[in-house]
Amino acid sequence: MANILLINGSTHANGFNAQLLEKIKELLGEYPHSVSELFWQDIPIFNQSQDYPPPIAVEKVRRAIIASDALFFITPEYNGFCPGGLKNLIDWLSRSINPKNSRGESFIHNRITAVTSAAAGGGTAVRHTMEQLLTFVRTRVVSDNACGVAIKKDDWAKGTLTITDDEIAGLKRFVGEFVEKVSADEALRLNPMI
Ligand SMILES: Cc1cc2nc3c(=O)[nH]c(=O)nc-3n(C[C@H](O)[C@H](O)[C@H](O)COP(=O)(O)O)c2cc1C
Repeated sequence: MANILLINGSTHANGFNAQLLEKIKELLGEYPHSVSELFWQDIPIFNQSQDYPPPIAVEKVRRAIIASDALFFITPEYNGFCPGGLKNLIDWLSRSINPKNSRGESFIHNRITAVTSAAAGGGTAVRHTMEQLLTFVRTRVVSDNACGVAIKKDDWAKGTLTITDDEIAGLKRFVGEFVEKVSADEALRLNPMI
């Protein structure tokens, strides 16, 4: 059983991405992996003079990432990019585990990652820029069948994310693709002779 963490890039309580996260959790629930949400919203702004040892909130998040196999990001799009808070989280995670070797493996290194988004236009821009960032920090990004969910005109007033049947079918394919990679990676870890 692999350990999958869901990461909401938003700080908006019950926001559109929080609702999408619940849908992703439901879809991942069809598979035999452990799924939980990473709460990171209390971490401070990255400060290189506090990197080792880091503030307690960062230490907790780093430990959770170390214990994970795969990360599924569900994020809003802010001006075409991810929110600054999420970029800040990834900066903390991109640091070397070993403070004596700044080029060593980072906390997030080699994790299998995927990105979806609830955004006005389906989050095409943020998915693209997030995938670039996650590749830069040396994670293994699953981008085949990647998709997002458009926030519809009537959703704004109600604060409720409508997910169409087509969008659900797309998310199912994407989650299936992600799980396939996670399961194959787990099989390889358990039996490196495969
Ligand atoms: C600073 C800021 C920039 C935004 N930029 C975009 C954008 O580039 N594209 C987009 O689709 N929505 C944009 N939005 C609207 C968000 O999609 C909207 O705030 C949405 O509620 C965020 O998701 P959440 O409810 O999960 O936080 C922006 C919102 C803010 C606050």
